[in-house]
Amino acid sequence: MSVTIVCITASLSFSQQKFATDSIEIKVEALLQRMTLEEKVGQMNQYNGFWEVTGPAPKEGNAKQKYEHLKKGWVGSVLNVQGTTNVRKLQEIVVKESRLGIPLLFGFDVIHGHKTLSPIPLAESASWDLEAIEKSARAAAVEASAVGINWTFAPMVDITRDARWGRVMEGAGEDPYLGSKIGIARVHGFQGDDLSATTSIVACAKHFAGYGFVEAGREYNTVDVGTSTLYNIILPPFKAAVENGVGTVMNAFNVLNGVPSTGNKFLQRDILKGRWGFNGFVISDWASGAEMVDHGFAKDLKQAAEIAANAGSDMDMESYAYITYLKQLEEEGKVDIKVVDDAVRRVLRVKYELGLFDNPYKYCDAKREEETIAHPDKATVLDIAKKSIVLLKNENNLLPLSKNQQHIAVIGSLANDKNSPLGNWRFGATDSTAVSVLEGFSKYTTHFKYAKCANLTLGKTIFPFELKLNETDTSEFAEAEQLAKQSDVVVMVLGEHGFQSGEGRSRTKLDLPGVQQQLLEAVYKVNKNIVLVLMNGRPLAITWAAEHIPTILETWQLGTEAGDAIASVLFGDYNPSGKLPMTFPRSVGQCPIYYNHYNTGRATAKSKDEVFWSHYTDESVKPLYPFGYGLSYTKFKYSNLSIDTSDAKNIKVSATVTNTGTKSGEEVAQLYIHQKVASVVRPVKELKGFEKFSLKPNESKVITFSLTDKELGFYNNEGNYVVEPGDFDLMVGSNSQEGLVGTFTRK
Ligand code: NOJ
Repeated sequence: MSVTIVCITASLSFSQQKFATDSIEIKVEALLQRMTLEEKVGQMNQYNGFWEVTGPAPKEGNAKQKYEHLKKGWVGSVLNVQGTTNVRKLQEIVVKESRLGIPLLFGFDVIHGHKTLSPIPLAESASWDLEAIEKSARAAAVEASAVGINWTFAPMVDITRDARWGRVMEGAGEDPYLGSKIGIARVHGFQGDDLSATTSIVACAKHFAGYGFVEAGREYNTVDVGTSTLYNIILPPFKAAVENGVGTVMNAFNVLNGVPSTGNKFLQRDILKGRWGFNGFVISDWASGAEMVDHGFAKDLKQAAEIAANAGSDMDMESYAYITYLKQLEEEGKVDIKVVDDAVRRVLRVKYELGLFDNPYKYCDAKREEETIAHPDKATVLDIAKKSIVLLKNENNLLPLSKNQQHIAVIGSLANDKNSPLGNWRFGATDSTAVSVLEGFSKYTTHFKYAKCANLTLGKTIFPFELKLNETDTSEFAEAEQLAKQSDVVVMVLGEHGFQSGEGRSRTKLDLPGVQQQLLEAVYKVNKNIVLVLMNGRPLAITWAAEHIPTILETWQLGTEAGDAIASVLFGDYNPSGKLPMTFPRSVGQCPIYYNHYNTGRATAKSKDEVFWSHYTDESVKPLYPFGYGLSYTKFKYSNLSIDTSDAKNIKVSATVTNTGTKSGEEVAQLYIHQKVASVVRPVKELKGFEKFSLKPNESKVITFSLTDKELGFYNNEGNYVVEPGDFDLMVGSNSQEGLVGTFTRK
């Protein structure tokens, strides 16, 4: 078998070329020459601001000391500070009072919007609409930059296969191809075409690397993955972000194959800065440097600082490790000045790129802040919210609802909730500002009655919250049943509270929390015409509902405009077009479950009574809903698959898609491949192309995909990208399990 090794250092990205050629490098060098060691270490130090915390409060440090350090120029960045007044106040201290006046970077978790919220990232990913995703990140950057923020800790590009992990809500799901495309769209959206524009903020691809593979989905847990998974699944979205000019990368809390990410030389020096030529800087995660002591990788904070700096973690978030020990470590010869200089160069470069040296207050325009906040870009967030909704089931065409339907019951406390749909990670937004489902509903019809029926949660659900689930109170069930009996159709809004997913929110159960399953079954007994509107931050194992409830609409947590987006789909003004970015399991025991798994030696049963095959005795191996799945109010038919292999370097695959239903709609056509034999076994299917388009009834479109070496190769276990000639299966269709199939040979 002949193998082509393709150079993975590839070409320099646009922004790297820019770095290499313009005068920023000269300015960085000149400034570096003037800096003392303390000032250099200062640039590698990030403090949390004085207002909010997004991690456990550290033992070290206090407000007085932080102010002193700002004055001395011993702080390179702060996080969690927002508002032009607050930002200006701190920026003035460093610019006016420190010796060299090097401006600060203001970092913030702008994850899905800032004050005006888009859907949570997992939901947005269900849109498969890269343009809409980029626009949503752009809108977030416009708002965040207006309130003083110049750096977002987003996008999270961790690929994840386990719905138990709370942070699945922050990412793009399970697939590295889709995840890479979405990561690129988000980086472009945040950074814009020109990083020095006033509405551009620098992006941060996180968490490098492997955090999405925490064992058993338990937050902060161990990660142990093989080379093939690392190179082919975990790393590609980071590489794509780097190639597309992402300014910063955040390392991770987790240990990867025994080495904490923050102290991982192989990841940060060899791969990221070495092979990929990353020119920006690496920020640690919150106290992840200090946590190397807890991991048993450093004996104390001083050694943690030594390991992290040498491994290429350029800036320390809230560990107090660098500020306390780095100067001493350099003097003792444990950390070379070259390591410090390299880190500082990287930080300064980003500050120059942002234009902060030309105008440190460019993000502190109070008038712009007021105007931007007064005119939120609701159209953008509403558009992406509609596109993020996935129709999972629509038996008997219960949806769309008729606007003149006489008797509709709306049931469930989430229907009237203005806070939960905002999702997690929304420190810039005001609590309870989402359009609720009921508010959205009322714009379409007055023919409905509402029964709140059994609160999902007890206790405060605004930040800082005490999220207690209602596991017992069924006292209002009778009212719901009565209402359902008198209605033609029942819309039940059930799911997770917005704070049940996100950092630190792993779950062992993937069912409808609290008494909601009981409620669903009770209502089903009296009226089977149920439209289940799900709100959740992760795939749920809603197996009973999938078997019994005729219509299910996945609406995630859709942000500020949630209720309007949901109502527009319920009443048919928008035809749902979303497709799942993550597999829905039938039960927790199937997790991790994902479409692009390897084959086993015993993938199928030879007979009905076969025992020795790869299966469960008590559950199917199939998912409840597969990756890429989602229905529409219309129907799409695929035909005429053709594969042209005349150019081995650019194989063309085309198919015709026809709208055979009665409504206009959007479809996401997906291309999957499977190499039958290779030197490292290939997944049963891998997404290698998709296109979203709209078709009127009876309209057809020929879609064409290109398969080049970029799509056909893979990383071998030495980390080299190889393209091996051979036979491939191929599928073009509407999800990862259904479509037109063909085969081809790559010579
Ligand atoms: C910890 C999280 O893991 C990270 O994603 C976030 O950006 C930082 N805290 C800052 O809030």
